Formats: sequence, C-alpha cells, structure tokens
Amino acid sequence: MTSTNVATRSVKRVVKGMPTSDGAGVKLTRVIGQPQLPDLDPFLMLDEFGTDKAEDYIAGFPDHPHRGFETVTYMLDGRMRHRDNHGNEGVLVPGSVQWMTAGRGLVHSEMPEQQEGRMRGFQLWLNLPARDKMTAPKYQEFGPERIPTATPAKGVTARVIAGQVAGIAGPILQPATDPTYLDLAIEPGAQFVQALPPDCAAFLYVFEGALQVGTDPGTSPVRTHELAVLSEGGEIRLKGLTAGADGMSARAILVAGRPLREPVAKYGPFVMNTREELQQAFSDFQNGKF
Ligand code: CO
Repeated sequence: MTSTNVATRSVKRVVKGMPTSDGAGVKLTRVIGQPQLPDLDPFLMLDEFGTDKAEDYIAGFPDHPHRGFETVTYMLDGRMRHRDNHGNEGVLVPGSVQWMTAGRGLVHSEMPEQQEGRMRGFQLWLNLPARDKMTAPKYQEFGPERIPTATPAKGVTARVIAGQVAGIAGPILQPATDPTYLDLAIEPGAQFVQALPPDCAAFLYVFEGALQVGTDPGTSPVRTHELAVLSEGGEIRLKGLTAGADGMSARAILVAGRPLREPVAKYGPFVMNTREELQQAFSDFQNGKF
C-alpha cells in the first residue's frame, strides 16, 4: 500500500522550442517564455543553447541587468565566463551549474571562454516570491564535482542539481520554490520512478533520444527538443526508448518547482509583480542603483 493516493503524473501537453537569438546575437531555442508557453509558474523562461559553430555563440551576452528572479545555467559542453558588478567572477565548465539570485539587481556578462568547438546547455529563469524580489543578489557556482550522480535503477543515471534522488541530494536549496532539477540518462528499456512534491509544477525536456512518460505502451513518446508539461500529481514514471541504432541513452532534464501564484509583471530582464515596480526597476537601473 502506498502512503498517498496522489495520481501519477502524465503528459498534459507537448511544446516545441522556438529558434531565437539573444544577447549580442547568440542563437538559441526558447522553450518556456515563447507564445506557445509564456511561462510555467514558477518558471519564467527555459533556453536551450547547442551548436558546434562558433559564429552562433561567440558574441555572447555582454553586460545586462536582472532584477526580481533567479537564473540557473547548466553547461553540458563548452566554457562560459560570468562576471558581475558585485565582484563575482567564474568560468562555467562542462557539467557545472551557476545559480544566480538577481534579487534587487545586478549587471553581469556571460561570455564564451572558447573560440571554437561545441557550446551546449540550458538557462532556466526561476521566479522569486514578492517578499524576496528585493533580496541581496547572490551568486552560487557549482563545479561538476559538486553535482552528485545517483543510479536509482539499472540503466538510469541522474545528476542531481536540486532535489533528491534515491537519498542523494543536490547542492541547491531554495525554500521559496522548492526546486528539483535533474539531468537524466536512461538506457533504452530502462525505467525510472521519481517522487515529486504534489504541490509542484513539473516539466520534462528531452535533449537526446526519446522517453515515454507513464507505463501505458500506447503513450506517444516525448522526443528530442520537446518539452512535456506534466499533469498535477505525485511521482513520474519514465521509460527509455530506443534512441537509434547505436542504442544510446535518452537524455532529459526533469524540473519541478512550487508555483508562486502571484501576478507577474515582466519586461526583458526585469520580473516584478506590478507595472510600477517594473518602472522602478528601469529607473533604478538607469540611475546606477544595481
Ligand atoms: Co543574464
């Protein structure tokens, strides 16, 4: 007998990313934060960047401000240098995570630390509740060795950025939204069950191969570059599908967080609760108060 009768999560809808560019002309795919999926409370944006061509990323993201939320950058390939006006600096290497709380405001740059080769990863924007929007900015960087790997089942590995898998906890804690952020590799045929807090919104974004959500073999797979918005519920069950002749594992990020259910006033790099607060953000930035 299970201790809960919360439903297993299923796929509510599938969304494909939209090609766009940002910063000084970096090509990327916007998955959350585009017309088909403007947001997924508490998540405001998800960008996937992935290219072998230097001209797609070399211009980087020169100095720009943020206020009112958190940015989470997860590098799969390549190197990116972060610098901000509060004295923080670091180079993101493959497998590392940067969790930046913009709070009341900072100005930073995110620039490639390479002239050629592959650049691949994700940037997720996580909202802050009204009470924390004007908190002091905070910069946390976790090298690849600080992101633990769990092997919860045969043929399944999970890098735990936030949340918990098989008793292994990720290094990031954010009580306001209680996030889970996992990088999963699931071999064809392997199965993975993950408990997620029932009060959290959740999505799965597949970036290699294909996965099946749930146990019904008639369910259509979630394929590469597709985001599955998950239904409300508790645990999620995933099965790796054949990813090609080489039998490679499917790769996906599984992300969950508690919705804030607050009004969102958003313009570019500022995310507040009201228009007045947005105007204040502009004027504070222009007056050098970040
Ligand atoms: Co930024």
